[in-house]
Amino acid sequence: MFYRGRRLRSTPVLREMVRETSLSASDMIMLYFVEETDDKNYRKAVASMPGQFRYSLDELEKAVGKDVDKGLRSCMLFGIPAHKDAAGSGAYGENGIVQEALHRLRTKFPSLYLISDVCLCEYTDHGHCGLVTPKGEIRNDATLELLARAAVSHVQAGADMVAPSDMMDGRVLAIREALDHKGFANTPIMSYAVKYASAFYGPFREAAGSAPSFGDRKSYQMDPANRREALREAAADAEEGADILMVKPAGCYLDIIRDLRENFDLPVAAYQVSGEYAMIKAAGQMGWIDETAVLLESLIGIKRAGADLILSYFTSELLQQGIVE
Ligand code: PBG
Repeated sequence: MFYRGRRLRSTPVLREMVRETSLSASDMIMLYFVEETDDKNYRKAVASMPGQFRYSLDELEKAVGKDVDKGLRSCMLFGIPAHKDAAGSGAYGENGIVQEALHRLRTKFPSLYLISDVCLCEYTDHGHCGLVTPKGEIRNDATLELLARAAVSHVQAGADMVAPSDMMDGRVLAIREALDHKGFANTPIMSYAVKYASAFYGPFREAAGSAPSFGDRKSYQMDPANRREALREAAADAEEGADILMVKPAGCYLDIIRDLRENFDLPVAAYQVSGEYAMIKAAGQMGWIDETAVLLESLIGIKRAGADLILSYFTSELLQQGIVE
């Protein structure tokens, strides 16, 4: 006798009955870029991310509205300020672009769950995620206070959850304490706990204009070769008070997603980043792959690895086409 695995694959209904993993709109978080500009009706295409735009506030509201109509539950925002400086002050200014956007979306879409990315790199003129010494080193502890200020300002503007992506040590604790102190003890933190120094962020840096002007991010983001270190980073963030642990990028790091799933009981999120989006889009546009099928396979792989939530630039499209609901 041998195992007849095909018995359970014979019809679509049966295959659906025994399917172990599924994808639904409640797993998916959309990402939007919002740019500070005086122009109205402004929508600037991101060349390396076909289908993605930098929106003015009014256009953002329209784009988000269309997705909310199709069942969007949650989104995360990235801001592109009109002016950048060495201290990234746009990240925590009361009238910063992300704060404005959060405020507008909060008012317009009361049940949309708003997550804000907390980092300085889109707001610093040097493009690094923290303050920089004259010698070009990234200052850890002095940056924490600014990140905490940014997080508080986002929540005051309407964010439901904050997501620090800077990779400074101790930032989850600094943000947790600041939020608690301001009366936001119930606001969760989704930590970019395991964030690798990845070349897959290339298109994002074009979209956000946030490529570092010197050096790279390897002194704070993780070495892609390291797996055990991921557990240390995740443990540190869990200890500091993270409510959700994120792995980023997703596709090349499925083992890490699985490790976090098995070693922690917190929800795990995975971020399918700009370069992953760009590759699937490009091959799809060339007609070299079936874009939707490859996309769904990549997302189900991320879920199967153990992710509860997926941040993906494809979220909007999947909702618009009724592929997830
Ligand atoms: C900010 C941030 C980055 C991404 C998300 N938040 C850029 C970076 O770390 O260089 C990348 C997202 C993507 O590539 O889609 N620190």
